[in-house]
Amino acid sequence: MAKNNKLKSRRHDPASRRNIELTNENKDLVREHFNSARINIDYSIIKDGDNGKVFVVTSGLQSEGKTFCSLNLARAFGNIQENKVIVVDCDLHAPKLHRYLNISNKPGLTDFLSNKNSFPESCVYNQKENFYVMTSGTRVPNSTVFLSGKLFRSFLRMLRKQFDYIIIDTPPVLHVTDACSFAAHTDGVVIVTRSGQSTKPALKQTIETLEKAQATILGAILNDVDFSKQGYGYGYGYSYGYGDDRGKNSSS
Ligand SMILES: Nc1ncnc2c1ncn2[C@@H]1O[C@H](COP(=O)(O)OP(=O)(O)O)[C@@H](O)[C@H]1O
Ligand SMILES: [Mg+2]
Repeated sequence: MAKNNKLKSRRHDPASRRNIELTNENKDLVREHFNSARINIDYSIIKDGDNGKVFVVTSGLQSEGKTFCSLNLARAFGNIQENKVIVVDCDLHAPKLHRYLNISNKPGLTDFLSNKNSFPESCVYNQKENFYVMTSGTRVPNSTVFLSGKLFRSFLRMLRKQFDYIIIDTPPVLHVTDACSFAAHTDGVVIVTRSGQSTKPALKQTIETLEKAQATILGAILNDVDFSKQGYGYGYGYSYGYGDDRGKNSSS
C-alpha cells in the first residue's frame, strides 16, 4: 500500500491534542514493557499461512487504557522495521485514536465501509513510527451495524492480506456488544485492566462475556501500575500475562 498518505498531512488543530505527556524516563519504560507485550502476543498467535495476525484490544469498562495500549502496541510492532502494521479505531461510540495522534478523524473506517472513500484515502501512515492508522471516520448513527456483519468480516480478511499485524481498538465489552460481535473472527483478544481502577468482578464478567462470544483470550495487560507504591523500585509499568495465567500476577 502507498505510503504517501502520511500522518502529517492529516495534522489537526494542536489544541485538540490529548496525548499523554510522559517524561523521557517513563517513555523508555513504556516502550520496554510494550515490547515484552508484543513478543508475548506474537507468540500466542499461530500464523495462518501468509495472512497477517489480527487481534482485538478491549476491556470491560471505559477509560481502562484500551486506546493507550492499542497505540503503544502499534508502536512496538512498528518498531520492527520489516513489520507492516495497522491500528484501527473500531470504537465508533467514543473514538479517541485520532486525538492521541493529533490528526483529523475523517476519512476513516466508516467512510471506507460505506464506500465514500478508498482504503488508501481512509488510512494514514505514521512514517516516524512505522505503522498505519485507520481512524474511526465520520460519525454514524448505527455503528453496531457496521461492525457486526459480513462487510466487516470481509474487511478483516482484506486487512490480513495487506498487513502483518492488525490491531483493533474497541469500545468496552460491558457497555456495547461491538467487540464481541467480531472477536471470534480475529486471532484473539488482549484484555486491558487498569491498576487501581478495574475491579475483579468486572474483569470476571468481561472474560465470561468474551468467552461466550467464542473469542480466544490471548492475555491481559495490567495498565498503569505504580511500581514505586508497591516497592518495585521504579515508577511506571505494565504487566502482560497469558490467558492461562488468569488471576495470577504476571511479571512485567
Ligand atoms: N498508562 C497510562 N498512563 C497514563 N495515562 C493513561 C494510561 N493509560 C490510559 N491513560 C489515560 O487515561 C485516559 C483513558 O485512556 P484510554 O486509553 O483512552 O481508555 P479507553 O480507550 O479504555 O477508554 C486517557 O486520558 C489516557 O490518556
Ligand atoms: Mg478508547
